[in-house]
Amino acid sequence: MTTLTPTENPTPEPQPVDSPITRSAIFIVATIAPGDDAASRVRAWCGDVAGLVRSVGKRVPSGNLSCVCGFGATAWDTLFGNPRPAALHPFREFGPAGRRALATPGDLLLHIRAEQMDLCFELATQIIAALGDAISVVDEVQGFRYFDMRSIIGFVDGTENPVGRKAVDFTIVGSEDPSFSGGSYVLVQKYLHNMTAWNTLTVEAQERIIGRTKLSDIELDDTVKPTNSHSALTTITEDGQEVKILRDNMPFGRPGAGEFGTYFIGYARSPSPLELMLENMFVGRPPGNYDRLLDFSTAVTGGLFFVPSADLLEALADREP
Ligand code: HEM
Repeated sequence: MTTLTPTENPTPEPQPVDSPITRSAIFIVATIAPGDDAASRVRAWCGDVAGLVRSVGKRVPSGNLSCVCGFGATAWDTLFGNPRPAALHPFREFGPAGRRALATPGDLLLHIRAEQMDLCFELATQIIAALGDAISVVDEVQGFRYFDMRSIIGFVDGTENPVGRKAVDFTIVGSEDPSFSGGSYVLVQKYLHNMTAWNTLTVEAQERIIGRTKLSDIELDDTVKPTNSHSALTTITEDGQEVKILRDNMPFGRPGAGEFGTYFIGYARSPSPLELMLENMFVGRPPGNYDRLLDFSTAVTGGLFFVPSADLLEALADREP
């Protein structure tokens, strides 16, 4: 019988992109300080982060703690040089002024998930301490799971996510980019909602915007579902086949400050489906037939990152640019 040593395993282990649904998450976007010292420190950290997750997570085995790390295009070139992930580029903006998917600074994304916020919080604290002044955090959001998996606008969110084998096929890079197989692309946007305006709509009007019923989360029939509903515009096909992404959006907010938000996070095997969905939502399909959810929601951040496989992440610690 042939046994494989870890280094001979032909399929790199992905990071936990397809982690089970959790009750809590922290999203951190950071920029990396200029200079060789900062770059060396971030590279060395790539070899240590899995150990940090083990140290924190082991203490609560049922807590399902996980962390996905992604790198922006500019950061990749600075930190690791060539080869680079074939489809990695800076976040592409879409839409007119006043309804725009805008790009904001970000070199490093951390997507920390667990059943309990204390686990997320402790891991974030350890990671930030390990990176020290090599990074500056530019955005940090603590997300919580809302009733029945609902987004803050009251509709169940995540229903049409691919599961099992399909989740892997739609999110994990394969032979199309052999040096980066086991990796994934991830797009994040922080949205703020005008809940006062949203709540003035009837439930039926909200349902036509999302394309699903509110209480029972059933997709509207194609004969009544508007072509500018969120569900219609984010359904895309290639060669007649539907192309999916994997989302794990989280509500966040501060009611006292009037802040109600959705942290959108979508994983895919290439940036293309994510960008086509954004184009459909913000520009419209056809142009002008845009997503009416955006009349009540403003994207205030936007970033695109490559998530190396877990094996490559560890190996990157020794990569010289
Ligand atoms: C304002 C922020 C957003 C909110 C509150 C939101 C909420 C929702 C809800 C409630 C659904 C229906 C249930 C489901 O299948 O998950 C949905 C579906 C979906 N959303 Fe979003 N979403 C947001 C932004 C985005 C963005 C930016 C994208 C893509 C770039 C996206 C892609 C999708 C996709 C692919 C579906 C499934 C469509 C289908 O197969 O029917 N969403 N979203």
